[in-house]
Amino acid sequence: MKIAVLPGDGIGTEIVAEAVKVLNVLGLPLKMETALVGGAAYEAHGHPLPESTLKLAKESDAVLFGAVGDWKYDKLDRPLRPEQAILGLRKNLGLFANFRPAICYEQLVGASSLKPELISGLDILIIRELTGDIYFGQPRGRRIATDGHFPGAEEAFDTMRYSKPEIERIAHVAFQAARKRSKRVTSVDKANVLETFQFWKDVVTEVGQQYPDVELDHMYVDNAAMQLVKAPKRFDVVVTGNMFGDILSDEASMLTGSIGMLPSASLNASNQGLYEPSHGSAPDIAGKGIANPLATILSAAMMLRFSLNQEAAAQQIEAAVQQVLAQGLRTADIFSEGTTRVSTREMGDAVVKAM
Ligand code: IPM
Ligand code: MG
Repeated sequence: MKIAVLPGDGIGTEIVAEAVKVLNVLGLPLKMETALVGGAAYEAHGHPLPESTLKLAKESDAVLFGAVGDWKYDKLDRPLRPEQAILGLRKNLGLFANFRPAICYEQLVGASSLKPELISGLDILIIRELTGDIYFGQPRGRRIATDGHFPGAEEAFDTMRYSKPEIERIAHVAFQAARKRSKRVTSVDKANVLETFQFWKDVVTEVGQQYPDVELDHMYVDNAAMQLVKAPKRFDVVVTGNMFGDILSDEASMLTGSIGMLPSASLNASNQGLYEPSHGSAPDIAGKGIANPLATILSAAMMLRFSLNQEAAAQQIEAAVQQVLAQGLRTADIFSEGTTRVSTREMGDAVVKAM
């Protein structure tokens, strides 16, 4: 089983190191190869997604990804920015289905900014379409300047677009996921204003007819954003487009009070996948040894489950994470009075010990 390990920028290297440590004690025949991506790759090779990194990712069964990005690259031309690395990996590997669970761990109920009764027991699965929408619209977005010069630009545009097959395949993913859960899907759109999302709604409804056992409802994205903080437990599986999914998944993850705890998976049609924490590169705390490695460790568990077919190993990791939380070990982001504060490395070591 071949794994491409791409730590990236910021806290990426610290948290991925802990996940690799955990994978190494499973006793499985895992072949891990590390490569540069994002700002780190730009520094070394002049490009955020070098050909060699893309090749390694393509040849692997799965990619374990840290995070990319740093404010210091904000002035670079768009194609050279670290974010282009993750977008390029998603597009080139065809990773159209992004799973972003928002689960509230009982021991961390107090870490949420919402009242405990609103979020206790929360378990939402956001399924975000990941290779279409305004992120990849054609014609590509650009600035328009009469003199061809960006600082003199008079306007800019991006194109929002979805094809029927793109909507159908993500809808199938959502309905199938719902069948393994509480058989409810909420499709989030902006059909009242945007043609693209009226089409989205129509296609999802059509696909839904093949799943009479799954209850489907539709919600406008602004209302969904409100309902997520008002009554988040009304949601189970949420399916939406690339941009709305980007925004709502950040919102949903923070409801749990612990963005440092949430893993994610991005899969293509042959279950090859990229696994990364839901949080970003957090350059402000990079190198301090205080980042929470659990989201990345749990992403490694998702990788074992979805791409490597190693359910037992996935459960072993998840049980170990539960155990360290039960022991009261907390990194700074989830620390509260009466618990024990640990560093990134100590948290990784504790998971290994629990395993
Ligand atoms: C995410 C991130 C990315 C996105 C950025 C880094 C390109 O915010 O994975 O949610 O917008 O998809
Ligand atoms: Mg995002």
